[in-house]
Amino acid sequence: MEIPVNVPIIIDIGEAYVKIGFAGDKIPRIVFPCMTGTEKYRSIMVDIGEARGKMIYVGEDCMKMRGVLKITYPISRGNITQWESFYEILNHIFYNLLRINPTEYEVLYSEPINIPKETKEYIARVFFETHRVKKLMMIPSPLLSLFSVGLTTGLVIECGEGLTNIVPIIDGKIFYPAVQILTLAGADVSLNLKSLLLRQGISLEFSAQKVILREIIEKFCYIALDPSSINEKVKTEKQSYVLPDGEAINIYNESMYLSPEILFQPSILGYNIQSIPEAVINCLGNINSEHWALLLKNIVVSGGNSSYNGFIERLKAELITILPNLGPIPAIPETPQIQERKSLISQEGTSILQDTCEKCGNLVDLSSGIKICPYCGNTMKTPTIDILLKTGIEKKLQKIKRKCPHCKKDLPPDSEHLFCPFCGQKIQDLEGQDIKEGQEVHIEEYTEPIVAIPTYYEDVSELFNFFIPENKQFAIFLGGSILGSLPSFRKLFINSNQFASNPNLLYHDISEIFKIE
Ligand SMILES: Nc1ncnc2c1ncn2[C@@H]1O[C@H](COP(=O)(O)OP(=O)(O)OP(=O)(O)O)[C@@H](O)[C@H]1O
Ligand SMILES: [Mg+2]
Repeated sequence: MEIPVNVPIIIDIGEAYVKIGFAGDKIPRIVFPCMTGTEKYRSIMVDIGEARGKMIYVGEDCMKMRGVLKITYPISRGNITQWESFYEILNHIFYNLLRINPTEYEVLYSEPINIPKETKEYIARVFFETHRVKKLMMIPSPLLSLFSVGLTTGLVIECGEGLTNIVPIIDGKIFYPAVQILTLAGADVSLNLKSLLLRQGISLEFSAQKVILREIIEKFCYIALDPSSINEKVKTEKQSYVLPDGEAINIYNESMYLSPEILFQPSILGYNIQSIPEAVINCLGNINSEHWALLLKNIVVSGGNSSYNGFIERLKAELITILPNLGPIPAIPETPQIQERKSLISQEGTSILQDTCEKCGNLVDLSSGIKICPYCGNTMKTPTIDILLKTGIEKKLQKIKRKCPHCKKDLPPDSEHLFCPFCGQKIQDLEGQDIKEGQEVHIEEYTEPIVAIPTYYEDVSELFNFFIPENKQFAIFLGGSILGSLPSFRKLFINSNQFASNPNLLYHDISEIFKIE
């Protein structure tokens, strides 16, 4: 592997998979299962001398040796619960896989949205004090998911192994009061599959059974648009899978669509929590209604557990059914929106080889250079990774400059004061009849105020627009890769001295780099 110099390393340590690469990479260079193992029975490990101490296996090596190892998964539901295992994973990344000197590299670390402050700062200390990285920046993963499709405003639905996050982001800023974090994700699909297999008489009691279940899920599972309409014959069709011990099992088709059904019906496993579509509606319910339409037009789906065939279709169908619970959706005002594209293409010239057709919503392969959607004939827009800067939701106030008729001082622009803030006297209605002839009234610029007549969407199904990253599982990585390539972002990385003197620098608001100058 050719290792670039002076390019940030992108680290996304997920509960199921670790993804590693460099800024500018389209996909991670290294992906491995997030697990470590130590030997169960030392006598079996013939290659290990006592003097070498306890051998730790990480990722793929651990997977290969799983039969004789005691397996540890360092992350659970977004929390690092096994720190020794986490440290081993970092060592493995820097010294076994990348084989680099961390003092020469900047690191962009993707963090879970609900990371506790102490954990965040502790991880930073591990990077600075144990690995002595040159510089570091830690960014919440939903922001990276959003950037992966070139947006700075959108509703991110991120579904990984441990958590599903529903995160509204406006102009690069997360709106935290509306964020929904569900303990409902890939781990629950695995649990559900395990129980469905048990009902078929198949018991999976292997070491690393989590990984086996995941493998079955990734190979066979899908989401049915309407599970109740699937006929009995289809339900009992079987798919064969060979277990690590060589035994072949036959899995009913029914188990393949019922396992991920948990994401839409958590009560299947007795969970008393919201389903993913319900969480989306609850999220919007905590945001001012003027933002709803814009967010629904910019839904970004990411995370490996959203990769099932049928996931987007089912999500959309359920959202259309329950969206009316929110009340009428105000239309996005027809004011002239400032929509500018500021090219933020990564230095390495990253480009998208697939894009979603704006008209029909199908994913179109653009790798051959075609610009026409084969499904509906729509002409596709440029496929380069640009960050679309949308400021349409910001109220464009009319700039009216005027002077106080009494003290002649300039009144603050857009002032709605009844009294002059300088002399305290009543300000006459400048446009009204009270203005006497000859009175000095200075109006530099006046434009007709826009009277917002609220209109509402009648057909909400038209409203939805999904932005689907090329690879949902690697979307967070790709967002990090794009961000890490931006010179404006690289200025924000901090070194250990800066961190020691002001840890708050780690919480830098990165939305400022997307502002239109
Ligand atoms: N093609 C696929 N179809 C269905 N599920 C998939 C597919 N690929 C991956 N998954 C599932 O996605 C999950 C892993 O996704 P991802 O790598 O985004 O999670 P993670 O980053 O490790 O977890 P988290 O973000 O919750 O810490 C696993 O549950 C895995 O089984
Ligand atoms: Mg993840």
